[in-house]
Amino acid sequence: MSMSQSYTALRPEFKEALKEAAKNFQTPFYAYDLQTVLERIDRLQKAFPGGEIFYAMKANPRLGILRRLLQWGLFVEAVSLGEVYRAYKAGFQRNEVLLNGPVKTPAMLEELDRIGIPILGLDSLTDLRRVIRMLPRARAILRVNPDLPIATHEHLATGRGESKFGILPEEVEQALELARRSRLEVLGLHVHLGSALEHLEDYQAGYAVMDRLYRTHGPFQVINLGGGFGLGLDLGELGAQAMALAHQHKVELWLEPGRYLVAEAGVLVTRTWGVKRTRRNYLLIDAGMSQLIRPMLYGATHPVEPLYKNPVMETYDLAGPACESGDVLARDVTLPEPKEGDLLAILQAGAYASSMSSNYLDTPRPAELLWTDQGWELIRRQQRWEALLEDEQ
Ligand code: LLP
Repeated sequence: MSMSQSYTALRPEFKEALKEAAKNFQTPFYAYDLQTVLERIDRLQKAFPGGEIFYAMKANPRLGILRRLLQWGLFVEAVSLGEVYRAYKAGFQRNEVLLNGPVKTPAMLEELDRIGIPILGLDSLTDLRRVIRMLPRARAILRVNPDLPIATHEHLATGRGESKFGILPEEVEQALELARRSRLEVLGLHVHLGSALEHLEDYQAGYAVMDRLYRTHGPFQVINLGGGFGLGLDLGELGAQAMALAHQHKVELWLEPGRYLVAEAGVLVTRTWGVKRTRRNYLLIDAGMSQLIRPMLYGATHPVEPLYKNPVMETYDLAGPACESGDVLARDVTLPEPKEGDLLAILQAGAYASSMSSNYLDTPRPAELLWTDQGWELIRRQQRWEALLEDEQ
């Protein structure tokens, strides 16, 4: 149960509101508590005072959320052309959008030239050369691969030497030389160690690598220390160390948190449709891998909160509707025994749930709702059945 660490229960108002929402919207649906997003931003800003936050929009790219973040003074981190379109549509300016990612095709760079070039996060020497050739006046940061044994799920570690990301420390010199001989404006270096990081030591090791690189290759204007903050990470100490590093090298501090800001603000609401016993005890629910792939993809554990009562408790695996054995959203969850149609909230579903959802098995994307304390806002309606067919002949 390592990833199911103690979790923050839903705010009582939000929990009540979920039951109301379920009267009007078909399950499964995603619901987000805006107050919790604000609170997480506040925590992060207190820990990293003066740090510039580029929200990693891949965690949850709903316009209804992005527009609020823009109002609150955040910027965004994107990793695809689609995300850049979306960021501009939400109202961000080109210098408020940072585009990372290991592959930027010529077609993509041409399109950026047309719609407005964001700040570019360059990921390799080849990426750098192509940008110098095609977008010679861009503003850029260079991503470093710190070559460290980062402790997280294999798919989520980006700072290991064998990952596909970044420029190895010994190649930074060459990359900077190339950039300095061009008209590209290099603002600084970037490190993103991985995602769902729970150990301060990984960050400390990453910061030490950056410290060495800034001593050797500085001065720069900016230091980008990435995101990756696990939900249980103590930001206080980390923030102090990051601020000290930025201060020492007289640079602006940039951060790219995704999960930390939105994961705990969101739930996936599903109904229970009966119990089925094989050699395991399954509770059948109407949400599964199409709406939340994380348990299957990373073995992630999402806490589950019942929105009904019953003094009789029982332990279940939560089986989704897909015809795949792996379509189980949680194992060994002890819950009050449900009636047909009772509601469950799958927690920590504000990040990488909707954004990684799919139409697998012709499943329409669910509705997404935002609770603002004034009421519910429908920020994405349930996908129409016709939409599943409309791109086909
Ligand atoms: N910056 C860069 C360059 C990234 O690649 C990522 C995430 C972030 C920032 C934000 O990381 P966060 O603060 O959210 O950990 N689908 C996975 C997570 C993949 C993260 C990919 N990159 C999951 O569901 O856990």
